[in-house]
Amino acid sequence: MKIQSSILVSIVLVLQLLLKANSLTVFDITKYGATPDRDISEALLKAWNDAIASTTASQVLIPEGNWTLSQVRMLGRNKAPINLEIKGYLKAYPELDKLPDKDGQWITINYVDSLTISGGGVLDGQGQEAWKANHCNNKNKTCPKLPINLSLNFITNSIIRDITTKDSKNWHANCISSLNVTFQRFTVSAPGDSVNTDGLHIARGNSIKVLDSVIGTGDDCISMGDELSDVLIKNVTCGPGHGISIGSLGKNVNEKRVYWIRVEECTFINTQNGIRIKTWASEPGTITISDLHFNNLSMVNAANPVVFDQKYCPSNLCSLDKPSLIQISDVEINNVTGTSSTSDVMAFICSEAKPCQNIRIGNIDLKYIGEKPAPTTTKCENIMPIFSGTQNPPVCSDLPPLVHSHP
Ligand SMILES: *[C@@H]1O[C@H](CO)[C@@H](O)[C@H](O)[C@H]1NC(C)=O
Ligand SMILES: *[C@@H]1O[C@H](CO)[C@@H](O)[C@H](O)[C@H]1NC(C)=O
Ligand SMILES: *[C@@H]1O[C@H](CO)[C@@H](O)[C@H](O)[C@H]1NC(C)=O
Ligand SMILES: *[C@@H]1O[C@H](CO)[C@@H](O)[C@H](O)[C@H]1NC(C)=O
Ligand SMILES: *[C@@H]1O[C@H](CO)[C@@H](O)[C@H](O)[C@H]1NC(C)=O
Ligand SMILES: *[C@@H]1O[C@H](CO)[C@@H](O)[C@H](O)[C@H]1NC(C)=O
Ligand SMILES: *[C@@H]1O[C@H](CO)[C@@H](O)[C@H](O)[C@H]1NC(C)=O
Repeated sequence: MKIQSSILVSIVLVLQLLLKANSLTVFDITKYGATPDRDISEALLKAWNDAIASTTASQVLIPEGNWTLSQVRMLGRNKAPINLEIKGYLKAYPELDKLPDKDGQWITINYVDSLTISGGGVLDGQGQEAWKANHCNNKNKTCPKLPINLSLNFITNSIIRDITTKDSKNWHANCISSLNVTFQRFTVSAPGDSVNTDGLHIARGNSIKVLDSVIGTGDDCISMGDELSDVLIKNVTCGPGHGISIGSLGKNVNEKRVYWIRVEECTFINTQNGIRIKTWASEPGTITISDLHFNNLSMVNAANPVVFDQKYCPSNLCSLDKPSLIQISDVEINNVTGTSSTSDVMAFICSEAKPCQNIRIGNIDLKYIGEKPAPTTTKCENIMPIFSGTQNPPVCSDLPPLVHSHP
């Protein structure tokens, strides 16, 4: 009898434990005073801080509906996994001066492990006013710094899925100093003429994935900065936008190397570029960019499907006196097909000081569909690619032929 009851007690205890493991403590912002007619930042932060303190898995819930958020900084360190469930439509104030911290971003999340952001919601940065105010270019030091929509820093083992970011005032999202972060079905939408609105900027990270996403914006769909490795970008549709890029790099002598980057099964529609590597001339950076794999890329009316630009100079105001000191090496470009709106379908402008090394190019089939008839060409400088498979158009055919000496 005694044994039976202790077995019963054990079963009940185990059941309770199982239930606890599966139950998520929900911190709903409406329970913290959020109402649709005013700024939810305080309520959101209170809900977040309770989630941070929770010792069991929890959820911060932004329910369906329209919400206004001035700005929020959500910091770790959390004790248990957190799900930020955004079901609603979150709007920023259109006026920049309504940002409480003018130097801050719109939504910042720092120092969190095991975070999932999901819910199908929209982050609407209300960028239209800000783009008008932005006359920035690389030489204009007086331009205002605009907020990034979603700024993720020092994030580990996390997933951002089924979220849309729309009309950000600056970069839509950045992911800096982070480890093992996956963006999946991450939608970015902003007009093609919006200013400097990179879709997703990734830097100083390791093991970052961007999967199954549609990114349309006014600048790079995805840009990658320095100190970055093990990036997989797969099944991403980019357009409008400037393509998927590594760089620009070289301006800073403290930059660290970029390696093991894969871009696969991506489609570029009406973009200014497909894949692009940008490094500055006459600048001190000396890192290597290596182990790059660009596979199965499809171009639909993309202006420059493949570009290595080691004389990167966006506003024509830079010095090209000295070559870039950045080394690009060990690159695979395989199966790039479709249409280009410019006749220079590919350009490999490598540095005279650091010619590109071990560049393998296979199965290229790109057709020029621009209005003016022109022969399809590729520009090549300081590169000696290793070819395989189809080369349509002939890649680097303007290079001097290899001289085989037979003494
Ligand atoms: C949210 O705002 C949009 C317009 O921006 C409106 O169409 C929609 O009905 C609103 N939804 C709710 C739940 O109030
Ligand atoms: C934040 O992201 C949304 C997209 O969800 C975007 O519309 C909005 O402009 C961004 N806000 C800011 C302040 O950058
Ligand atoms: C630089 O930016 C400021 C502020 O946006 C603007 O007033 C100024 O006209 C810009 N200058 C140039 C040369 O673009
Ligand atoms: C990476 O993060 C995911 C999502 O949190 C997790 O399931 C996975 O175990 C992590 N991988 C490693 C190697 O820690
Ligand atoms: C690619 O991404 C799109 C957009 O998210 C998705 O609908 C599709 O199922 C994905 N394809 C694969 C093979 O996963
Ligand atoms: C080339 O890539 C396309 C996707 O862009 C894919 O559908 C096709 O199967 C690939 N071909 C080969 C031979 O790998
Ligand atoms: C490219 O596509 C082919 C055909 O679908 C597939 O077999 C191959 O694994 C793909 N390669 C990469 C690196 O995704």
